[in-house]
Amino acid sequence: MSYTITIHASGHQFTAEATESVLDAALRQGFNLSYGCRNGACGSCKGKVVHGQIRYGDDQPIALDDDDITNKMALFCQAIAESDLTIEAHEIGAVKDIPIRTLPCKVSKLERLNHDVMQVELKLPTTERMQFLAGQYIDFLLPDDRHRSFSIANAPHHDGVIELHIRHIEGGRFTTEVFDKLKLKSIMRIEGPLGNFFLREDSDRPVIFMAGGTGFGPIKGIIEHTIAANITRPMHIYWGVRAKEDLYMHDLAQDWANQYEHIHYIPILSTPKDEDNWQGRTGFVHDAICSDFADLSHYEIYGSGPPAMIHAGTNAFAKQGLNLDYYYSDAFEFAKD
Ligand code: FES
Repeated sequence: MSYTITIHASGHQFTAEATESVLDAALRQGFNLSYGCRNGACGSCKGKVVHGQIRYGDDQPIALDDDDITNKMALFCQAIAESDLTIEAHEIGAVKDIPIRTLPCKVSKLERLNHDVMQVELKLPTTERMQFLAGQYIDFLLPDDRHRSFSIANAPHHDGVIELHIRHIEGGRFTTEVFDKLKLKSIMRIEGPLGNFFLREDSDRPVIFMAGGTGFGPIKGIIEHTIAANITRPMHIYWGVRAKEDLYMHDLAQDWANQYEHIHYIPILSTPKDEDNWQGRTGFVHDAICSDFADLSHYEIYGSGPPAMIHAGTNAFAKQGLNLDYYYSDAFEFAKD
């Protein structure tokens, strides 16, 4: 049995099954309702039930008092719909609405994606969640006040873990530790979410994503979010790397393009190896975008990767009519220490 939930006043609608909380249903379908702990303790998800019936499990959640019940307030992380609902709830539309938190986490997955990229998954304590917008990043808090920033590569509706794509930097102390010493169940401390790299959902401009290397990570998170949220603006993903082995999630990106008409995927190699037998595009990723789009005045571009790529894009795209107010970037520096 599923019910229709309408958010007053935005008019956004999603469906909720009789087996999931209203918050879980919203996040699963890409609606960013405000939340914190997701276990009924913090009150961050509190909102009003304007019409309809809800129920809780055996006990009334801690963060809900009798006045709240009288005033038809509800904790959406615990409330289960028993009918169609109209609710008043805070929808996160910008990073300023999300608290930045420092949390412990445990390494729950370490998987080599290719010769120099590791997929790292971090699990938060069971009583904690970190709300974020797809595309944002976290900092590892390291001894001696060192910070290392990595983009989140999954979408918020899968916030049970935080997925990162970490490339081994020759001479980089932290990434060498990740590859040589980090173990499953290691405890780390992180701060986040951080950054302004997220899809502007109030726009209907077609989107060009420009990824360089592991800059694919946050774009993966954004695309997974758009699929969950049924956002169907045209999206062109340009992924530039050196050689074929660096396209560490090529099949996933190709699957998106095969499955969704509005998603297009263009991999570009700057220095393909002989054994790659590469028949596809070569050169620099920003040049490929410029040669495919003579007029960028109606587009939004999201660039994620090395600063040189982002800066090269700034000049090239402006010359082809891009209003730079619509150029969003997540330039990451490689910190060697
Ligand atoms: S998210 Fe903390 S009470 Fe619902």
